Amino acid sequence: SRRSGLFRARLVAAPTVVEMVPGVKTAAWAYNDSLPGPLIDATEGDIVEILFINRLPSATTVHWHGLPVPPDQDGNPSDPVPPGAERLYRFTLPEGSAGTYWYHPHPHGSTPEQVFRGLAGTFIVRSRHDPLAHLPEQHLVISDLRLARNGAIPDNTELDWMNGREGQYVLINGQREPEIRVRGRQRWRVWNACSARYLRLSLGGRPFWLVGTDGGLIGAARRMTELLLAPGERAEWIVDAPDTETKLIALAYDRQKMGDVGPERDIVIATVKGVSGDAGAIPDTLRPVPALGEPASRKRVQFSETMSMENGRHEMKFLVNGKTFDMARIDLVSRRGRIEEWDIVNASHMDHPFHLHGTQFQVVERVRGGRAVPEPFLAWRDTVNLAPEETVRIRVVQAFAGIRMFHCHILEHEGQGMMGQLRVE
Ligand code: C2O
Ligand code: CU
Ligand code: CU
Repeated sequence: SRRSGLFRARLVAAPTVVEMVPGVKTAAWAYNDSLPGPLIDATEGDIVEILFINRLPSATTVHWHGLPVPPDQDGNPSDPVPPGAERLYRFTLPEGSAGTYWYHPHPHGSTPEQVFRGLAGTFIVRSRHDPLAHLPEQHLVISDLRLARNGAIPDNTELDWMNGREGQYVLINGQREPEIRVRGRQRWRVWNACSARYLRLSLGGRPFWLVGTDGGLIGAARRMTELLLAPGERAEWIVDAPDTETKLIALAYDRQKMGDVGPERDIVIATVKGVSGDAGAIPDTLRPVPALGEPASRKRVQFSETMSMENGRHEMKFLVNGKTFDMARIDLVSRRGRIEEWDIVNASHMDHPFHLHGTQFQVVERVRGGRAVPEPFLAWRDTVNLAPEETVRIRVVQAFAGIRMFHCHILEHEGQGMMGQLRVE
């Protein structure tokens, strides 16, 4: 419901039953019985009040991925809502926060399970001066799902804990290979809400325009024919109706998984049908993205992995700055309002998407094989992929004091402790 400036909603997390495969019942967990969860569609300047009710058999939290909400409203693992309990999440959406976000659980240790059972939803913040408001909008929440033969959602295997879980079905808005109709020209918002699947998206080779990243519009539209979205990332596109039809494809992407997983392959995830109609203009400039200035301090975050022997078995450990997550430990300290430059180093042999809570950052450059490649355009992001042996240099400012999480957004890695805590003073 909405009164001017106040956005209120009720969010109930509860077990539910869905029919993903015709005739086969699947026990899932969902927000408001909906997979994905309901869209929260608010406007810059709004005060948001979400009454959250936990009807799950376990503790959970709601984390507002990418939004600049105060730490005590951000669903940190240290702030669980016990089974049967409720709490009010309350925050204000600042000017400049227009963008494409999402929400999902973040309880200590069980984020992967709660997300793969179905808990995740979308959150859009709109601007009152949106240069693309004239274009019809379409939402594509891409997730994946694994079902056992009896329709149950099975637990993670050992291989899932190493590589991150991928399901056999890639879903768009909870549906398998849907038909998407594009009349004239549309604005798409695309979410990679998969636990671990990378999406190298293509429209069958047809060009489209990238107009926005996690934290909203970029300076000007960029024409492209494919875009890699790592788990947790979002993008805004402008798509023109194909003459007849084309496919939305997740092209093979080798993220250097471990074990015997077979070759990656292309997956068709939707059919895109064209309908002739108006092609609304794309403005030359979308929104200024001012560069964050010179950093006042520097930090380094290193992702790595080690093999250790536990109970006579080899076990993989995923580390941030050489350690696994400890809720009682502060890993880094920042000062409110201070620009920092962080080097995020991937010292492991597989890809990992880095994510930081509470703010949007800018990628300055990416260093691979000793060569620094400046980022070709300025954008606000909260998640960025790191290829093996790659270093990504970001600039970032935090606005609130309190504790923030940073972690790998392959949820199985996060769940095993590839996460740290930043205290902002
Ligand atoms: Cu989307 Cu800490 O996560
Ligand atoms: Cu987040
Ligand atoms: Cu990872």
